[in-house]
Amino acid sequence: MTRLAPNRRVSVSIPCDMLVFGGTGDLALHKLLPALYYLHRDGRLHPDMRILALARQPLERQAYHALAERRCRAQVARADFDAATWQSFAARLDYFAMDASQSADFSRLAKRLNAHRVQVYYLATAPDLFEDIANHLALAGLAGPQSRIVLEKPIGHSLESAKAINAAIGAVFNESRVFRIDHYLGKETVQNLMALRFANALFEPVWRAGHIDHVQISVCETLGVENRGAYYDQAGAMRDMVQNHLLQLLCLVAMEAPVRFDAEAVRDEKLKVLQALRPIDGLDVQDLTVRGQYVAGKIGGQEVPTYYFEKNVDNDSDTETFVALQAEIDNPRWAGVPFYLRTGKRMAKKSSEIVIHFKPTPYRLFHGGAANRLRIRLQPEERISLQLMAKTPGKGMRLEPVELDLNLAHAFQQKRRWDAYERLLLDVIEGDSTLFMRRDEVEAAWAWIDPILRGWHEYYQSPRPYPSGTNGPEQAQSLLSLQGRSWQD
Ligand code: BG6
Repeated sequence: MTRLAPNRRVSVSIPCDMLVFGGTGDLALHKLLPALYYLHRDGRLHPDMRILALARQPLERQAYHALAERRCRAQVARADFDAATWQSFAARLDYFAMDASQSADFSRLAKRLNAHRVQVYYLATAPDLFEDIANHLALAGLAGPQSRIVLEKPIGHSLESAKAINAAIGAVFNESRVFRIDHYLGKETVQNLMALRFANALFEPVWRAGHIDHVQISVCETLGVENRGAYYDQAGAMRDMVQNHLLQLLCLVAMEAPVRFDAEAVRDEKLKVLQALRPIDGLDVQDLTVRGQYVAGKIGGQEVPTYYFEKNVDNDSDTETFVALQAEIDNPRWAGVPFYLRTGKRMAKKSSEIVIHFKPTPYRLFHGGAANRLRIRLQPEERISLQLMAKTPGKGMRLEPVELDLNLAHAFQQKRRWDAYERLLLDVIEGDSTLFMRRDEVEAAWAWIDPILRGWHEYYQSPRPYPSGTNGPEQAQSLLSLQGRSWQD
């Protein structure tokens, strides 16, 4: 057992320098610094730990502090932000202006660092900079055996590019020092999925094809591309969400119990699931996948624009902002059970959930009722609910579905749930890679995704328009309704 119960205080981590490449970018300012602020406030960082933000902009330390404070204030709950805590956090925080493509800048950087400390390099940059940064770190003597590197998804944009990145990183950093982050694995309910499956004897016997009709995994967002148009228009929902977050969730639902709860055993089991995914290629791409792109509509009463009018998006873009697909896992546990995956931007509501639809009872003794359904909700709130059949009050024997509902925040009475990045940053500092993607996992996921992307291209499968504020294109509904099923909205 390497992890601790979420409501127990973990040990104060080791002293290290955390260097954040892309220090003025959204990820750093919106996610990483607020997560580090909370870890600092809660006394989870070693007193000597330093954070160094790196980016091209020529900023003085004070100017960076002002920028970081503004962004953190906006992210951190009002009650959790106070000036004194910020001041003590800012004392750890420094800024270094450099160009990640210039080796001379890495020599300057080396002079700033203490060679005897553990260095954690967080690459919050576009993946096309990963190789260069790793090589420059090595040339500047900054990739010693104590150092670690964190890579943000997506790792590349295809199997080939992912392999090239992995090879280049692998030539500098041993795999045990590479942390490929997928922040969905840091979400509390995602880890609870493993607890639910492997620590409750109740579920294991029915967690298989004989009892499960199908599984739905949905990650629906109301946000559009915000100010990430340039990145998103190149990536699209398949590379941005399905290749990583959705496939990781599918792995956790479908994998066998690992022999131990440690990095290698857990990742071995996830890899087997990815390898067992039935390829979707050729004409199957048209039957089993749906692409969509949002057009103008209303979200929360507000008018929002069509995707191709968003900032930094090509105005005849055919990038998808929505994907729905049907996956199958060719192994004895899951043969014949469809896994429906769906993700999209500008949808009717924000909600991420996994729904396991069980088969109905073999014989219907009573009127009414439906099949059991287990819903594991990641967002907006963390809950697990089981739909059971119960008799309606009064005379007669009529059944209706009712929910057995576990709200995880209430169950553990925590004031605040950890953000995924808090947990994952701490894991990196402590060197625990259980919740990070291994090289072979990333490549296996791309090997499954690539033929779908190719099929879209070969058959000119343009994205179907869907109005913002809806549940995606009509074709996504037909994907299920043609099989007598419907999305759990
Ligand atoms: C990121 C994607 O990985 O996940 C974004 O790049 C997406 O496009 C985000 O909005 C969703 O994360 P969450 O935690 O808000 O569901």
